[in-house]
Amino acid sequence: MAAVALVQGASRGLGFEFCRYMLLNKPLAAVIATCRNPDGAQHLAALAAQHPGRITVMKLDVNREDDIKRAAESVKCAFGKVDLIVNSSAMLHPSGKGETSLRDVSAQGIISTLTTNTVGPLVMAKYFAPLLQKGTGAFGQQPPEKAKQHSGIIVNMTARVGSIGDNALGGWYSYRMSKAALNMATRNLSIELGRGQTKIVCVSLHPGTVNTDLSLPYHRNVHKDKLFSTEYSVQCLMNIIDNLNTDKTGKAYAWDSTEIAW
Ligand SMILES: NC(=O)c1ccc[n+]([C@@H]2O[C@H](COP(=O)([O-])OP(=O)(O)OC[C@H]3O[C@@H](n4cnc5c(N)ncnc54)[C@H](OP(=O)(O)O)[C@@H]3O)[C@@H](O)[C@H]2O)c1
Repeated sequence: MAAVALVQGASRGLGFEFCRYMLLNKPLAAVIATCRNPDGAQHLAALAAQHPGRITVMKLDVNREDDIKRAAESVKCAFGKVDLIVNSSAMLHPSGKGETSLRDVSAQGIISTLTTNTVGPLVMAKYFAPLLQKGTGAFGQQPPEKAKQHSGIIVNMTARVGSIGDNALGGWYSYRMSKAALNMATRNLSIELGRGQTKIVCVSLHPGTVNTDLSLPYHRNVHKDKLFSTEYSVQCLMNIIDNLNTDKTGKAYAWDSTEIAW
């Protein structure tokens, strides 16, 4: 059966570009694009029209466990397996800007950010792990020893600012905490889903600073050579994904394949 890739948070930004990239560069792959409001996702609708029969758009608000469960059931009925999941959805903060100091922190701001950025991807893993275990290892590189082969891959989109070891500037409490906790989820998942016969590779990937809505308030502070297009960033990230195997699980990598300290 053809490779099956699911991109969660595909309406715009990097999630949308992951879908576009795979439709163009993985001709045998079926792409499932999930978003919370398919009727409002016009770019996705246009992409689906350009690639009839190759992309399935599903409603999934990552904050709603029922949506995730229903999407997993639909994918099971339609495809019976998944080979790759990319959790791309996230927010910087409900205000659109990271906190500059403690006085900007609000309980609700942190709770909303953690719910979307951390809880959502973990609940995705809960419902989709059985489908990834039925995967055929169609993404990534299989090492020669049969015992270490993987069936599927989970990519959690992280950010370098989620690295505790790398944090010298402070600020952005909600976003940093959400990505640090997401990295812990990645590591835990890599351990639990790396046991047993069918192994799932789990990694966190940092895309660089990319020209999307999420980073828009900060573009003027970024040198133009350091602000990546979504096309460039996803090409780099897919290169990492194409070379993943069980030896590389449980880690965080930046767009240039370098490992990021926790
Ligand atoms: N851009 C950067 O510079 C940068 C840097 C480091 C890390 N990242 C990470 O890369 C990933 C992609 O970011 P991006 O720049 O592409 O962001 P973006 O352009 O702001 O897109 C965010 C996406 O998340 C979706 N989303 C938000 N809340 C959701 C929910 N509850 N359920 C489902 N989808 C939801 C949005 O859907 P709607 O259209 O429905 O709002 C949108 O598709 C994120 O994990 C981000 O943290 C980005």
